[in-house]
Amino acid sequence: MTTLQEPTATQQRFDLEAEKWDNLPGMKEMAEKAFLAIKSTIHLTKSQNCLEFGCGTGLVSFQVEPYVNSILGVDFSENMANVYNRKAKEKKVEEQLQAIPLEITNADQLDGKKFHLIFSHLTYHHVEDFHHMTKILYEYLEKDGYLVVTDFEKFDGSELFHPKAKHSTVEHHGILKTELESALKEANFKEVQVNTPFSVIKGVEGSQTPMEFPFLCGVGRKC
Ligand SMILES: C[S@@+](CC[C@H](N)C(=O)[O-])C[C@H]1O[C@@H](n2cnc3c(N)ncnc32)[C@H](O)[C@@H]1O
Repeated sequence: MTTLQEPTATQQRFDLEAEKWDNLPGMKEMAEKAFLAIKSTIHLTKSQNCLEFGCGTGLVSFQVEPYVNSILGVDFSENMANVYNRKAKEKKVEEQLQAIPLEITNADQLDGKKFHLIFSHLTYHHVEDFHHMTKILYEYLEKDGYLVVTDFEKFDGSELFHPKAKHSTVEHHGILKTELESALKEANFKEVQVNTPFSVIKGVEGSQTPMEFPFLCGVGRKC
């Protein structure tokens, strides 16, 4: 397996945020809504082995865990992966859930492992070329496996999702529905659907009025 090199600015940001991540405003709410979107899109079963791309501290993984066989979390922040593994141990689910610090850059980094389901929440907007990433994730799926991506939608004003101080660690201020759809189709996914199943109301910098941010849920099947 490939290990991490010198941390980038984005990795350093997430390394610094890892311990407080679960208590940052809105994180648990967004993860719960993402989980419900995944659960209503995919028939989860106890025979599925899953990968969470950009797993963070596992806010989504820990909700999916009771419904599937196993989840491997990958995250390029070593501290995020450490918090994930510590929580798995505390909850006594370390047999089912494990995170590794890894930046996915190609389809040959996981010792040949393939998955029935890959999910990813709030990570695509950190990936410069998420079209290419979608093609890589396709390769990590078993035949008939599914990829589910949830992330906030791009619109005029969606750059307010993050305060300006974090903009240098963000590649996209949201994802366009058409872009997620084309990324899935270009990667050869079938039965592609992109919906807007939920939104969150979030405080934003420079305004007393919270804003609504719709979230996309994109799904495709590897046939
Ligand atoms: C906004 S956080 C979301 C974490 C988690 N999914 C959640 O909802 O709490 C994005 C995560 O993706 C990770 N990440 C971003 N780009 C990545 C990449 N190319 N490879 C692996 N992890 C990445 C970051 O380290 C961070 O933990």
